[in-house]
Amino acid sequence: MKYVIGIDLGTSAVKVLLVNQYGRVCGEALQAYPLIHEKSGYSEQQPEEWIKKTTLALKELVAGFEGNINDIEGISFSGQMHGLVLLNEKREILRNAILWNDIRTTAQCERIYNVLGKEQLLQITKNPALEGFTLPKLLWVQENELDIFNNTHVFLLPKDYLRYRMTGQIHTEYSDAAGTLLLDVKEKLWSVEICNLFNINPRICPPLIESHDFIGTITSQFADETGLSKSTKVFAGGADNACGAIGAGILFEGKTLCSIGTSGVILSYEQCTDHELGDEVHCFNHGKENAFYTMGVTLSAGHSLSWFKETFAKGENFETLLHELESIPSGSHGLLYTPYLFGERTPYADADIRGSFIGIDASHKRIDFVRAVIEGVTFSLCETINIFRDGGKKIDSIISIGGGAKNDTWLQIQADIFNAVIMKLENEQGPSIGAAMLAAYGSGWFSSLEDCSNKFIRVATEFHPNKDNVKKYKVLFDIYKSIYTKTKDLNNILKIYRK
Ligand code: XUL
Repeated sequence: MKYVIGIDLGTSAVKVLLVNQYGRVCGEALQAYPLIHEKSGYSEQQPEEWIKKTTLALKELVAGFEGNINDIEGISFSGQMHGLVLLNEKREILRNAILWNDIRTTAQCERIYNVLGKEQLLQITKNPALEGFTLPKLLWVQENELDIFNNTHVFLLPKDYLRYRMTGQIHTEYSDAAGTLLLDVKEKLWSVEICNLFNINPRICPPLIESHDFIGTITSQFADETGLSKSTKVFAGGADNACGAIGAGILFEGKTLCSIGTSGVILSYEQCTDHELGDEVHCFNHGKENAFYTMGVTLSAGHSLSWFKETFAKGENFETLLHELESIPSGSHGLLYTPYLFGERTPYADADIRGSFIGIDASHKRIDFVRAVIEGVTFSLCETINIFRDGGKKIDSIISIGGGAKNDTWLQIQADIFNAVIMKLENEQGPSIGAAMLAAYGSGWFSSLEDCSNKFIRVATEFHPNKDNVKKYKVLFDIYKSIYTKTKDLNNILKIYRK
């Protein structure tokens, strides 16, 4: 029996997954690492921490593997998107990585529009200038840490840095490059025009390859540290959302994904970049060659729930926190939550807005708040579903993955708020299974990702919308949507009090 490993370098943890030729998960390990929030809106991580924790997780996975280590043929990656990792000429890290949920770069987004123009930016990159993307972060370093900017020999995305440390090879691939705002998404080339306009030397952009491309084998040092075989082949991998989509079989037009990790996304497969959905949603290259996807993002999705747990139920696990969730009726006894802990992306693209609980009553218990958080996150994702539907997409079934797919009540809430059939997969492993599929396809086990998905992916359960709840949620969704406009000015005033 042959095996592959999918590594998902997430925002809160790295997860490694061992999968056999039949798509069966034969082992997994997880190691968490912290986020560094020095100021309100800042979000950083130490790249060295990713390496340490990935090494530990792989070591644990290998220790529990009873087969022949040489049968683990390949490894590939899924990674948190947009994070900026800067290396000098000696390939040393120049500063902490600035992550996708860091929103310090509003001024740099304005600079991009002023210098390049929104139309031209959309023409080249297919995306608007958003705080979370990589180019605004690079411009922030240029404006605030000039020495570091001048010493930059190459920039990498998080999982590309991890792969570099495992192989000694520097690359990125299209699905992650698309989230930098430096890629000509349709032509699949770095935009020299954008680089030149912002005084960025194009040579700091890493070489581009496909997600299933073979990079090389792991270094002897990495093999020694983890117990993996020196002949383990490494394949490029993809952005976490691209890998989530691959792992859920979102490989054809008409397929829609709901993925709830730290962020939450609604994602739809596209065969080309000429969609008519406007700039409220992102458009990126897929991990499948010459394919794309459109997507809306809720910045604090799973993060809303983990923030709530950390703040109000420290030391408890999610199981206890969600206990009796199903006993609270739709609408959480009149309590609504907006998940804007880090501002929001879709549909508002507003780094200054912050979250609210509306309608707190003396009768509310903690579980009402928990349900309100879950409903608020799902309402936020529904904003993207509506953009897709208004743009002409037919969405009557959605595959749900990630933390949001681990709880049946939340899956039913998705069905009722989205008014669509929600499908839960047998092998629900989030983006790490997509990464493993890239390694399986790259290793030549299958002739295409579609072939691989036929073997690896099976629907386990369907959740059908409940008509009464659909009606109730429609009314509540309108109230939810009005909270943004009603709290925007208040949040602008409160801004000066943030840390
Ligand atoms: C997508 C985005 C997030 C991160 C989370 O644009 O910023 O979904 O990829 O890792």
